[in-house]
Amino acid sequence: MAIPGETVEQILQAAHIEEVVGEFVTLKKRGSNLWGNCPFHNEKTPSFSVNPARNIFKCFGCGKAGDSAKFLMEHEHFTYPEALRYLAKKYNIKIEEKQQTAEEIMQQSLREKMFNINEFADKYFVDTLWNTEEGKTIGLEYFRERGYFDPIIQKFHLGYNPDSAHWDAFTEYARKNGYSEELLEQIGLSIKGSKGLYDRYHGRVMFPIHSLTGRVIGFGGRILVNDKKSPKYQNSPESEIYDKKQTLYGIYFAKNAIARQDECILVEGYFDVLRMHQIGIENVVASSGTSLTMEQIRLVKRYTKNITMLYDGDAAGIHAALRGTDMILSEGMNVRVVVLPPEHDPDTFGKEFSTEYVSNYLKENAKDFIRFKTELLLKDAENDPIKRGQVIRDIVETISVIPDSIFRITYVKECSRLLDMPEQTLTNELNKILRAKLKKTLGIEENVVPETETTTTPKQEESVEDQLPAGYYQERELVKLLLMYGKNMITDERLDENGEKVLEQVSVAQLIVDDLKADDFVFTNYVNRKIFDVFDKAIDEGYIPDDQFFVSHEDETISQLAADLLSTPYKLDQWEKYGIFVKQEEDVLRATVLSTIYRYKDLIIEERRKAIEEELKTAETAEDQLILLKRKKDLDDIRKQINKELGIVIAK
Ligand code: UTP
Ligand code: MN
Repeated sequence: MAIPGETVEQILQAAHIEEVVGEFVTLKKRGSNLWGNCPFHNEKTPSFSVNPARNIFKCFGCGKAGDSAKFLMEHEHFTYPEALRYLAKKYNIKIEEKQQTAEEIMQQSLREKMFNINEFADKYFVDTLWNTEEGKTIGLEYFRERGYFDPIIQKFHLGYNPDSAHWDAFTEYARKNGYSEELLEQIGLSIKGSKGLYDRYHGRVMFPIHSLTGRVIGFGGRILVNDKKSPKYQNSPESEIYDKKQTLYGIYFAKNAIARQDECILVEGYFDVLRMHQIGIENVVASSGTSLTMEQIRLVKRYTKNITMLYDGDAAGIHAALRGTDMILSEGMNVRVVVLPPEHDPDTFGKEFSTEYVSNYLKENAKDFIRFKTELLLKDAENDPIKRGQVIRDIVETISVIPDSIFRITYVKECSRLLDMPEQTLTNELNKILRAKLKKTLGIEENVVPETETTTTPKQEESVEDQLPAGYYQERELVKLLLMYGKNMITDERLDENGEKVLEQVSVAQLIVDDLKADDFVFTNYVNRKIFDVFDKAIDEGYIPDDQFFVSHEDETISQLAADLLSTPYKLDQWEKYGIFVKQEEDVLRATVLSTIYRYKDLIIEERRKAIEEELKTAETAEDQLILLKRKKDLDDIRKQINKELGIVIAK
């Protein structure tokens, strides 16, 4: 049920971040903030800060940041509505549920019915396994034969679906208990044949698939006889409650261990998960044979940034390890790969060796993914120079998806060694890819470092930082000023209708927005632009949103950036460093805002000028040249004006 927008606002305003966090973390006051040990990563000295004035938290160690709702989502793994409900209860705010539409009610009750029938089926399969002759001699015996002990069979609710003459033992039982044929078919427990409904999983041992919160959302059933016509595993079809790409087998049983050990081990199959649990390695989930999806990766990311892929030692297993990995890297996660001896999968490996041996094997053989990939591909390429070129491009492509530039640089260094290639060659290749991507994602040709490199000294190493669009830091700075001081009023010199200079009180937000729009400057970064647009629109409507509005924004890219930027104070006092003494806080703010705008514009113009100069070199007609020269002159004029104003600001 939806919570009305006003109530959401009311809840978030009532919530005091220090009280919400304080229930889970011991906080001590130091300066204007409160500090404690971060609950999201292991540390001995506190780098987790709570800022009561801004109503946000931020960890300077792991970077997690946000408002009260975000904290609860991260810490308690609540969904957003769950976090709000928790806060509403804590602060005694009544939630007036919005009236649901007839369709919503039906949808809701269909989901409930589906959970309900799955629970019913789960009980039936478990009961059949333990308490019927067929279940015990065929199903239970199968699990025990494969070396599984009763506690694991019970913990995972393994079961058995009988193999009756008409293949309809379960379907019949469900029907008798009042479940409709329509629902049985929809949820996929039964299949409609020419002679009516029959059990999808007849004669199979059953694995219930649990949601994050432990509800049964689907099933997998393994065949026990040799039948080339039937697949080894039958799985539930997708339904209103079962979305395969969002599901990882075992996540319900593994999530605590994953968070505790700050690592998630990824395997392929149901039995691999069971085996690892049985030998006491519990931070394990399975992708269930399909290649990994973005949604599954994000699911893991709620608990840890470290994924270890544990795959069969055969060619197919290694191939599987290569799939999906770029996706994990692009989420800023760390990926390692462990390859088992060729004859093993995690299930057989865990059966043959002791817990100690297996954990040691994992520790000793876990290889950083990029190193793994490089070595693997290199072995393939041998001395074939064409193939080697391919390998290099392939590896660099992988490195390019890593969001953190520091890590990218580290990998370039490492791969340069492994590939026996000059670092510069790899860096050039990497920069080419990054540049192309940047242009594509930004969808903006201007403001981006042009294709021809701009470094003056040719020998100088191209750092990946050069990939940042011109004015990147100034752009962030402006966003930070908008968020922190958007509402503050400052005095600005403006021209009135008669073109005369007048002093006027304007908000910082208005000043920045107007000033940038006047010269057609557009932020290059997508999130920055989104924030800018919110201010622009709000000012049009006559108000200015405050920092809380952004920190609690439903768009996570916005709320994350806002919390991030708001967590470090703005050094307004730095002016004194330059020997500039400003009397009042307002003057300082004014000087800071204006100089940041000017510096930003100056950098962008510089870039645009360079681009024009490049174009001039290849301009074919005199007319083209003239146009370009005119544009260049316009830029120079703006620039002169800026420098003049900047001079004035600083001189004041
Ligand atoms: P495997 O074929 O490796 O099976 O498929 P396994 O888990 O080792 O099973 P055993 O040891 O032969 O009993 C890996 C995973 O791929 C999915 C299942 O999730 C399986 O656990 N799979 C496989 C299917 O969904 N359908 C199939 O027909 C085969
Ligand atoms: Mn197996």
